[in-house]
Amino acid sequence: MAKLLVGQLSDIDIKGSRTIRLDHIEIAVFRLSDDSVLAVENRCPHKGGQLSEGMVCGSAVHCPLHDWKVDLRSGRVHEPDDGCVTTFPTEIDQSGSIYITI
Ligand code: FES
Repeated sequence: MAKLLVGQLSDIDIKGSRTIRLDHIEIAVFRLSDDSVLAVENRCPHKGGQLSEGMVCGSAVHCPLHDWKVDLRSGRVHEPDDGCVTTFPTEIDQSGSIYITI
């Protein structure tokens, strides 16, 4: 496992996101309205839409392509649709630096 610095909390708008690209995967890091930060694979399980381009609502993101709703905590798609994405542990230190664990 590796812990990666994503950036500063202030770098991401509330209900916004930023992406980081690793060798084989792109990860979307979302800042929720309560200033928590959650990270998921940036690929909708339906047809590969970029979740980072979606609208954040509570702790879910609405895929921009066909509006599937993905829970950012569990990675599960809301019913009646079905599927899941990989989630990644996140933490924010006292200086506001965001880290994810891969
Ligand atoms: S690609 Fe995300 S809902 Fe279709």
